[in-house]
Amino acid sequence: MNDEAQRRIAELRTLIVHHDQRYHGLDEPEIPDADYDALVRELRALEAGHPELVTADSPTQRVGARPATGFGVVLHRVPMLSLGNGFSDDDVLDFDRRVRKLLGRDAPVEYAAEPKLDGLAISVTYRDGRYAQAATRGDGSRGEDVSATVAQIRGVPKRLTGAAPALLEVRGEIILPLDGFQRLNETMAARGEKTFVNPRNAAAGSVRQLDPEVTRARPLELYVYGLGSVEPDALPARQSELLEWLRAFGFTTNPLAAIVTGPEACLDYYRRLGEARASLPYQIDGVVYKVNERQAQEHLGFIAREPRWALAHKFPAEEAFTLLRDVEFQVGRTGVLTPVARLEPVFVGGATVSNATLHNMDEVARKDLRIGDTVVVRRAGDVIPEVVSVVIGRRPAGAGAIILPVTCPSCGSPVVREEGEAVARCTGGFRCNAQRREALKHFAGRRALDIDGLGDRLIDQLVERDMVRSPADFYTLEAGSLAGLDRMGEKSAQNLVDAIAASRETSLPRLLLGLGIRDVGESTALALAQHFGDIDALMAADEAGIQEVPDVGPIVAAHVARFFADEGNRQLVEALRERGVRWPPVSIVRATEAPLAGLVFVLTGTLSGLTREQATEALTALGAKVVGSVSKKTSYVVAGEEAGSKLDKARALGVPVIDEATLVGVIADRKPPGA
Ligand code: IVH
Repeated sequence: MNDEAQRRIAELRTLIVHHDQRYHGLDEPEIPDADYDALVRELRALEAGHPELVTADSPTQRVGARPATGFGVVLHRVPMLSLGNGFSDDDVLDFDRRVRKLLGRDAPVEYAAEPKLDGLAISVTYRDGRYAQAATRGDGSRGEDVSATVAQIRGVPKRLTGAAPALLEVRGEIILPLDGFQRLNETMAARGEKTFVNPRNAAAGSVRQLDPEVTRARPLELYVYGLGSVEPDALPARQSELLEWLRAFGFTTNPLAAIVTGPEACLDYYRRLGEARASLPYQIDGVVYKVNERQAQEHLGFIAREPRWALAHKFPAEEAFTLLRDVEFQVGRTGVLTPVARLEPVFVGGATVSNATLHNMDEVARKDLRIGDTVVVRRAGDVIPEVVSVVIGRRPAGAGAIILPVTCPSCGSPVVREEGEAVARCTGGFRCNAQRREALKHFAGRRALDIDGLGDRLIDQLVERDMVRSPADFYTLEAGSLAGLDRMGEKSAQNLVDAIAASRETSLPRLLLGLGIRDVGESTALALAQHFGDIDALMAADEAGIQEVPDVGPIVAAHVARFFADEGNRQLVEALRERGVRWPPVSIVRATEAPLAGLVFVLTGTLSGLTREQATEALTALGAKVVGSVSKKTSYVVAGEEAGSKLDKARALGVPVIDEATLVGVIADRKPPGA
């Protein structure tokens, strides 16, 4: 099968190159465009089924229209090499042992470690400090001239700052950050164009095409990590110093680069980066260790096409192929039907994956999924697994279409999809057991009323036996009736009753979250509480009044107003009050006058003197926003003990980091850090 595929792939590539030549070189096409497109489609499908056979020079690695002409050829004065790969700790220990043996050293060796970026390798040449040429790696000796497109990338300096050598050739990686990749694919999909499989292909495709305007419109970045030829040759003595030297000319180097001494430190760096991987703004596929001293590098030299002084320590693959066995629809708290893929279990990204959410029917249509398809599944870090794409070339005859049910799989009520909405909903409301179950779980959840010991299984039983219909019913449960449930003894029944009783003392933000108002998450609940002070004021407010709350727009305001206009919901609040649930009034904050208005904080790691919840409340009470993930818009990251990936991301993006003591000062002084 593989041989057959390989033969056909080679044949298709030859054919496509031939027709490109006829069409553009000679202006004499031999076949209609549709036939040409069919050849390209077949090649794409085969390559998707055999990613190991994809090569950089395949015609599929070009994007857009057929190129008007080919690329010029650039001979690399210094070959562009590849790297030896390591996968295990032992591979790294072996590498280090070899290095020390060849250098005749016992003492630990210093390495420059940095992320291995998953992009397009590039060589950029400057003459007298001016941009002169850019070339792809090609076969290592001969690359393609991509000077015109690379010149359009903002992060590629056109003139170097400082006294640059007469000839300076830098080597690095062109990447497309994940957010740019996502936006690009959305635009392409909206225009009905083919989307890119991953950011690496998108970066390569954006450079290896002939229209500089296309490149200019894409948010590509260049990270440099090495050199080609340099004249006159007066270079820093260490890789780490080389990076500094390059930065001084105006290049970007990876801010996560570090010096590590000895193999244990290498492995430590690898583990830390592995944890940060999923939250980095770009894709990486491993770590590169390079012997730091240039003299030692020269001594170690090369073997075949790989330097003996460097190792690529790869991360486990995050993507795998598997079979889409079925699609089921789950009904959520607000009635939304979510298609869930049932997969042939597959080990990927360090875990076995057998389910993946498909989000909504638009997504299913966009990916063109059918039951029986072979799909690419991705699991990156702790991010929930996703179905990335389907391998069309492996679609069996009669693969089944995925159809949105017309009635709710839980309660049988009609399913509707409103105009302009991506999601379909069950119209059963609280009559639907699935919705009721999810709403009750949400109410009892850790961030809402936090009823200890009231897990999902238990709530399922309470709903099935009709013992609880609304959240207020929790507060009438007695140990005697609970003791009859599965795996529930007298002791645990009493514990649960005690936990329910303890949850009566709650807070307004928790209650507002627990009510499950559409689009009201933790931060909106807090903002509503701090704006209105108590629930009666909120229940009396109209949409316009609710919209005055910071960050609450017309849609959320409408949801909130509609929720409290509902008689059943008003009765629920009353019933909770009658059954002893208490939420003290909240002191009112007017955000625009607040001392931290406009600042965005991210909390990470463990704080010792206060809980995250307390820190969040204190910061938001001063007008700041507290969000969960780091981006360029973050003002400060507060790093507690053992802060991990978010801290790394903050450093990568240059976001200021403060410690707990500074945070406590900010809260006490009611002033931004350093003010
Ligand atoms: S150093 C002598 N550093 O990985 C070769 N390469 O698998 C020196 N790559 O062709 C390469 N990130 O395109 C180096 N931080 C990094 C890298 C990196 C990505 C790529 C590079 C190379 C390929 C080898």
